[in-house]
Amino acid sequence: MEQRGILYDGKAKRICLTDDEDKVIIRYKDDATAFNNVKKAVLANKGVLNNRISAIIFRYLRNAGVENHYISTLDDRSQLCRRVDIIPLEVIVRNIIAGSMARRLGIEEGTEPSNVIYDICYKADELGDPLINDHHAVALGIVTYDELHNIYGITAKINGLLKSLFAEAGIRLVDFKVEFGRTEDGRIILADEVSPDTCRLWDMKTNEKLDKDRFRRDLGHVIEAYEEVYRRLANIEDARGL
Ligand code: TMP
Ligand code: ASP
Repeated sequence: MEQRGILYDGKAKRICLTDDEDKVIIRYKDDATAFNNVKKAVLANKGVLNNRISAIIFRYLRNAGVENHYISTLDDRSQLCRRVDIIPLEVIVRNIIAGSMARRLGIEEGTEPSNVIYDICYKADELGDPLINDHHAVALGIVTYDELHNIYGITAKINGLLKSLFAEAGIRLVDFKVEFGRTEDGRIILADEVSPDTCRLWDMKTNEKLDKDRFRRDLGHVIEAYEEVYRRLANIEDARGL
């Protein structure tokens, strides 16, 4: 697979074209940003760990019937993926209240709601990725109501699968964000990444945070936490041949 020009250079990843127009190479960087780019740092080895963690999760989801863009791992920082047109929505699932929802609604972090909460944000840096609702998304022309219905269905399935994978790793899946893309033939599939950058992961025994909140909140030992998540998931994949 030969690498061609840069398709998109993001905050944490760079997407490159290849000589196959249906495939891209995604390279994971060590750059970390938070609060809409206000807080920045380079966390040595983060890209390597997220490349590995996201690959394990995407292989697991694929084996469980959740179609996604991951094809294969190329090297420590790169993976070969199907090229999709990313739908500019961040689909957030909350199993436990934390982060922006805790702040916005004055709910104590760690509260367990009786239902699973789905939020959508419009991916637009200049607007600060605002929280929107289904009607806004349709009015923006990003998706149809039918597509949203499909997206929520896939997201619910992902949540069930990830909750059980992380539970096996001794981790509570507090919340996470996923993104979807359209394939050439118009299907909607899971894309982007699933990693400690895009999830809140709390150790089941100690409640210790094993995710990007360690960076956002200056808790220290960021990379050690990502390594711990990788180690536990890799053990499960090895043991089960996921
Ligand atoms: P929030 O509490 O900031 O709304 O985040 C909810 C979850 O979604 C959390 O696991 C982090 C993830 N997330 C991203 O990965 N990227 C984003 O831009 C946002 C806003 C959240
Ligand atoms: N708000 C997101 C985060 O903190 C991303 C960003 O703002 O750059 O993860």
